[in-house]
Amino acid sequence: MAAARSAQDPGAPAAARKRAQELRAEIVEHNRRYYDEDAPTVSDAEYDALFRELEALEAGHPSLVTPDSPTQRVGGRRAAQFAPVRHRLPMLSIQTETETTIDGAYTFDARMRRELGLGPGDPPVEYMAELKFDGLAMSLRYERGELRVAATRGDGETGEDVTANVRTIREVPQKLKGRAPPVLEVRGEIYMTRSDFAALNERQEEQGLRPYVNPRNTAAGAVRQLDPSMTAQRPLRFFAYGIGEVEGWELPASQSALLEALDAFGQPVNRDRRLARGGEELAKFYRAVEARRDDLPFEIDGVVYKVDSLALQQQLGFRTREPRWAIAHKFPPEEIPTRLLAIDVQVGRTGAITPVARVEPVFVGGTTVTNVTLHNEDEIRRRDLMIGDTVIVRRAGDVIPQVVRALPERRPPDARPFVMPKRCPECDSAIVRLEGEVIARCTGGLVCPAQRKAALLHFASRRAMDIEGLGDKLVDQLVDGGLVRTPADLYTLGIAKLAALERMADRSAANVVEAIERSKSTTLQRFVYALGIRHVGESTARDLARHFGGLDALMDADEAALLEVADVGPVLAQSIARFFVEPHNREGVERLRAAGVHWPAHAPQPREGAGVLAGMTLVLTGTLPTLSRDEAKAMIEAAGGKAAGSVSAKTSYVVAGDEAGGKLDKARSLGIPVIDEDGLKALIARGGDGA
Ligand code: IVH
Repeated sequence: MAAARSAQDPGAPAAARKRAQELRAEIVEHNRRYYDEDAPTVSDAEYDALFRELEALEAGHPSLVTPDSPTQRVGGRRAAQFAPVRHRLPMLSIQTETETTIDGAYTFDARMRRELGLGPGDPPVEYMAELKFDGLAMSLRYERGELRVAATRGDGETGEDVTANVRTIREVPQKLKGRAPPVLEVRGEIYMTRSDFAALNERQEEQGLRPYVNPRNTAAGAVRQLDPSMTAQRPLRFFAYGIGEVEGWELPASQSALLEALDAFGQPVNRDRRLARGGEELAKFYRAVEARRDDLPFEIDGVVYKVDSLALQQQLGFRTREPRWAIAHKFPPEEIPTRLLAIDVQVGRTGAITPVARVEPVFVGGTTVTNVTLHNEDEIRRRDLMIGDTVIVRRAGDVIPQVVRALPERRPPDARPFVMPKRCPECDSAIVRLEGEVIARCTGGLVCPAQRKAALLHFASRRAMDIEGLGDKLVDQLVDGGLVRTPADLYTLGIAKLAALERMADRSAANVVEAIERSKSTTLQRFVYALGIRHVGESTARDLARHFGGLDALMDADEAALLEVADVGPVLAQSIARFFVEPHNREGVERLRAAGVHWPAHAPQPREGAGVLAGMTLVLTGTLPTLSRDEAKAMIEAAGGKAAGSVSAKTSYVVAGDEAGGKLDKARSLGIPVIDEDGLKALIARGGDGA
């Protein structure tokens, strides 16, 4: 399958190597967003395309395969707060059929016949055709019929122990019905129905909270809540579709019989499944399900075909990441034509002007779309979009909708091009687009209510000051009503002022006031991030806090002093220095401090010579038992060391975990000391080398 798709092969190995590296980094990042943050930024189709391109590259140039390539492992990793659960039988993924046309069904059947050595005269292969539920994979371990452990997939080998949370899900039986075997691991998917999701979002909105993005991420987020009572408030459901480890139970002969057995044990098994004989019947199932897709009570992103006979499954066996006997056949992303009625502009926190297409409402990919962001002026030109055009809107799974293209043959004579307005629709300040920049900006700064609102939302956001309950609606009311102009004004709000707002109950007002009060006790890093200085994200805020130790030193730093901070370049240094030179920004900061916002003081840790690992370069390889790669990297960097990607003579230590590959070999051949996770911790605790 690897080479089936024409990935653009750059030919020259150097180019291929570079591309493979880029793809790996990109895929790892998407895995992180998907699994760790439950907030993917690309569609499954885009992700699959990247993955297949990498597979094809590696197939064409086997020397490019690295042991840590995402093609060699199932994506994802564990969160640190849940206990790890080692899956005794790995939780595998399924290969995705590349064709999102009906051909996928025939291709799969043809491949199965070939691999089973069947000729044209042999009878059709029987398959179990199921829905591909779009949720979170779960392994439920029953011992003597009692639910003992519920674990997420994690990286496929080790997942997270979410038993307490899963016990709150009514559809997951605590006990198996009938004569349960000593050990039975049930595998399936946690999901949320569309209507439960809609009701949940209605409640969110009533409380002035931000709506959830989609059922999948909401379900995944709920399962990984630290507090089971939070999970209990989310309407989660479960479908069983397979098994993991079993003991003392004679396996049924087929997937269909297995599903029936699971049903008899009291597990929820979806009835929308069919025994299909041959490719033709798979195709029929695919078409039928695709036609009904939007009428299903929950979201699916395709169908799954499994060779029905377990004996044949065994004969077909596994590849590294997935069984050979199953395939996910996805549906193409929905693309629907509609009319582009107007292009308005929106003003972001930094004044960035984003053109937004207003389209005639269309139902696509499970939601009604009326607004679609068009990113910037150049993008509109590139796609040759004109107001009045018929455009194709696409929404794949959980991703934000896009305008794919216009249909020029349906362009009305009165279609007009988009013209970037000269003045900000919110504050009438000039809009400028600087030489060489793609983004146009409102120059109004905090005079502009749109920028003020966005700045407040950023200030209150979870990773900044974390003021729960201060959402879009409330901020609109506060700014429009003149109650709040800057973040410091938030700290002057009392219950009375808030409760006087429309749709605000005393109870909610009290909650918001309490959340604001709580936010006073924070960290310097969060505070710096909350200020919303252009280009200063969380990691820069962390570096700044660490480097300067206190706010005054940071506020007084000039560009030269800022350039001393690790990873701060000229653009950032200029942006930070300019921010703190502005009198109104300094005043805002002082007002916040006067309001009681505070954080623990700590000693500055300037870059040079600090940290027990200063001057050392460490290389991580393989999977560490408790630390994720990012955590280990952060630990090394916090101790002043450098975490590098490849082993060289300059490497001080290689930190190796399970399945360490080439880097470990190289370290040994160069005679570089190899330590494990405990060794790393000890090294840091001991205070570096000779200490
Ligand atoms: S079977 C060894 N059946 O899709 C095969 N998976 O990438 C294990 N999924 O991780 C999976 N519906 O979370 C199977 N009817 C179904 C499924 C299903 C959804 C998920 C599952 C898996 C992913 C495939």
